[in-house]
Amino acid sequence: MNTPGFATRRRVSTVLPDFPWDTIGAARARAAAHPDGIVDLSVGTPVDPVDPVIREALAASSEFPGYPTTIGTPALRSSAVAALARRFGTTGLDDSGILPVIGTKEAIAGMVSMLGIGTGDVVVIPEVAYPTYEVGALLAGATAVRADSTFQLGPTSPALIFLNSPSNPTGKVLGIDHLRKVVGWARERGAIVVSDECYLGLTWEGEAYSILDPRVCDGDHTGLLAVHSLSKVSNMASYRAGFLAGDRELIGELLAVRKHAGMIVPFPIQGAMVAALDDDEHVRAQHGRYRARRGILLEAVRAAGFRVDHSEAGLYLWATRDENSRATLDWLADRGILAAPGDFYGPAGAQHVRIALTATDERIAAAAERLRR
Ligand SMILES: Cc1ncc(COP(=O)(O)O)c(C=O)c1O
Repeated sequence: MNTPGFATRRRVSTVLPDFPWDTIGAARARAAAHPDGIVDLSVGTPVDPVDPVIREALAASSEFPGYPTTIGTPALRSSAVAALARRFGTTGLDDSGILPVIGTKEAIAGMVSMLGIGTGDVVVIPEVAYPTYEVGALLAGATAVRADSTFQLGPTSPALIFLNSPSNPTGKVLGIDHLRKVVGWARERGAIVVSDECYLGLTWEGEAYSILDPRVCDGDHTGLLAVHSLSKVSNMASYRAGFLAGDRELIGELLAVRKHAGMIVPFPIQGAMVAALDDDEHVRAQHGRYRARRGILLEAVRAAGFRVDHSEAGLYLWATRDENSRATLDWLADRGILAAPGDFYGPAGAQHVRIALTATDERIAAAAERLRR
C-alpha cells in the first residue's frame, strides 16, 4: 500500500546518482571465489586499530550526561587550530574559524544548501571526484560542473568550487601556483572555495598544501573553507569525526544552521578528537604503515603491466591498462582482487581502476603475490 501523499511527492533520491557499488557485485563474487580468499581493495576503509591514546580519551569523556554544543568544546577547537598549524603550516586561524562535523561526508553533502546555494547556481567539482561533491550540489538543486582548471570554466561564475588535493581517487596533488590561481579566480567572482584536505597528511612523494597555507592564500581566509577528516590519518572512520576550518563568516553561518538542525558531534567523540589532534606520533606510525603497503603494491601493480598515474599522495593507486575499467576489474577479480572502477568517479575515469592501500599487511602481500604470478 502506498503511503498517503508520499507517492505523488518528488522523491529526493531520484535526483541523486545511482549508488554505484551495486554494479560491481559480479566482480566481487568472482574475486571471492579465489581459493585464498578475496583481497578487497575497493573501499578506503581503515583496518588498523584505533590508537590507545584516542580510545582512552573516548572513555575518559564518556561520563558527561548533558547535551554537547554544535560549535564544539574550546579544547577541541584550539586543538584543531594547533594541529593545522603544526602539521600543515596554516596561519591566522583561531577558535572562531573551526566547526566540528559528524564525519566530513555529511558536511560536504549538506554544506552547499546550508550556504544558500541552490537552483540556477553552479558548483564546480573535479573531473574525477569523490561522489559526494556532486551529491551536495544536487541536494541543493544546483548544477554540478566538472572542471580541473579555471580555463575550462570560461565565463561561468560558480557559487562554489570544490577542490580535493591530494585527490580521491587519483592521488593527484595540486601545487601552490594552481591553488593560488583558483583562490584568486574565485575571489574575483565571489565564489566560495571548499578544499577537501582529508588526505593532506598522507603524502608519499613531495608535499601537499592546505588552502589555508599562507603561501596559497596570503593569510586571508575570506571565502575559503578547508575540510579535515580524522577518519584516515587517525583511523577514526568509525567515530565519525572531522571539522571545517577557515573563513569565520562562513563557519558562523554553517554553525547557525547546524545548531538548528542538531548536527552535533557527540561529546565523547569530541574528547577523542582532542587526543587525536594533540598527538602526532600515531599519525606518523599510520603513515609508515601505509607507505610500506604502497611500496609493495605499487611495484606489483607495475610489474603486472599497469601504468600508475598520479598517486603521489592519498590512499589509492590510480592504475590503468588502457582499456575499459570494467575489463580491468574482471582481470583483477580473476586473481581474487577487488578494485573500484574509475567510472564511479566521473566519465574521465573510465579507463582507470582505484586500488586502495587500506588492507592489512597480510592481504596487501597476498595481492602483490597474485599480481606477480
Ligand atoms: C575525498 C574524501 N572526502 C571526504 C571523505 C569522507 O570522510 P569522512 O566522512 O569519514 O570524514 C572521504 C572518504 O572516503 C574522501 O575520500
